[in-house]
Amino acid sequence: MAYPKFVTIFEAGARDGLQNVKDVIVPTDVRVELIDRLTDCGIPKIEAGSFVSPKWVPQMADTAEVLSRIRRGKDVVYTVLTPNMKGYQQAAENNCEEVIIFAAATESFSQANTNCSIAESLERMKPVADAALAEGRAVRGVVSVVLGCPFEGEVEAERVAEVTRELWKMGCYEVCLGDTIGTGTPVKAQKLIEAVARDVPIEKIALHFHDTYGQSLANILAGLEMGVPTIDAAVAGLGGCPYSPGATGNVATEDVVFMLNGMGIETGVDLDALVDTGWWISEKIGRRPASRVAHAIMSKRKRAA
Ligand code: HMG
Ligand code: MG
Repeated sequence: MAYPKFVTIFEAGARDGLQNVKDVIVPTDVRVELIDRLTDCGIPKIEAGSFVSPKWVPQMADTAEVLSRIRRGKDVVYTVLTPNMKGYQQAAENNCEEVIIFAAATESFSQANTNCSIAESLERMKPVADAALAEGRAVRGVVSVVLGCPFEGEVEAERVAEVTRELWKMGCYEVCLGDTIGTGTPVKAQKLIEAVARDVPIEKIALHFHDTYGQSLANILAGLEMGVPTIDAAVAGLGGCPYSPGATGNVATEDVVFMLNGMGIETGVDLDALVDTGWWISEKIGRRPASRVAHAIMSKRKRAA
């Protein structure tokens, strides 16, 4: 077993987390402050928003303004999700050094999320990747519903590998496996990683697990055992997916960092500051953190006070 010595935390809360907030539009000021706070926590990669259709995802409509106002930390990468060339152009105009292209592993989810087939979405992604690479931007590829689909149920690892292979061929520096509905379990996750790793080096694979069924930490550990070095997470476990009925947020960043700290794996992230950020954003959007670690550390602080 060769765990990575350092794990890169990819913070998805400001995009994946906030895109799914219901009832109220999260004010731009709050989005900006959340990203600034995450920067101060020492997070190396922050998904700052998306340039998608505002009719589809109204919460992300002010991503350009958010990008113009955040304080960019030294050595921190701010990245955005771009579903097509229209989105890419906005990313380029707003000084994004990295863009995320994405596709689904099932036809039903592809239609629900992007209104097109898997093949069509890959056709849309190719010019985005080409333009980004030609203009010196890094491209990350994400595949959704890799361990279960809300419409089609079980998803074969080979189907996922076909899509990751295409994204990898487009020049992505990393491909990320999204368990959008959180039904994955550790052995299935390992079989999936094994299938994807036939085309993509293990150190270029990232995991993006939603915690709907409470399996994320176990699945992440299973991935770490295989040498996967990058983990997506959302502070306070924010979020869900607007096109995935019933899905809850990503694994909480606090829980991942606590686990990694305990394993002696470095992340560079300040856990106490992260816990504060999780409580702060949860209060702003009228909920409590979904992170067990956030609650445990807060209780410990109260007992000590
Ligand atoms: P469409 O309606 O088929 O697109 O949507 P269209 O090309 O026919 O255009 C319709 C309208 O959208 C037009 O405006 C376009 O200009 C506009 P109108 O003429 O009607 O005023 N439009 C755009 N506006 C802003 N930015 C753009 C853009 N593109 C078109 N980039 C489309 C197709 C892909 C745009 C739409 O389906 C969409 O935006 N989908 C994105 C949905 C989304 O953001 N989902 C959540 C993110 S994915 C996720 O959360 C999963 C992940 O976390 C991993 C995991 O958990 O598994 C990554
Ligand atoms: Mg997601």
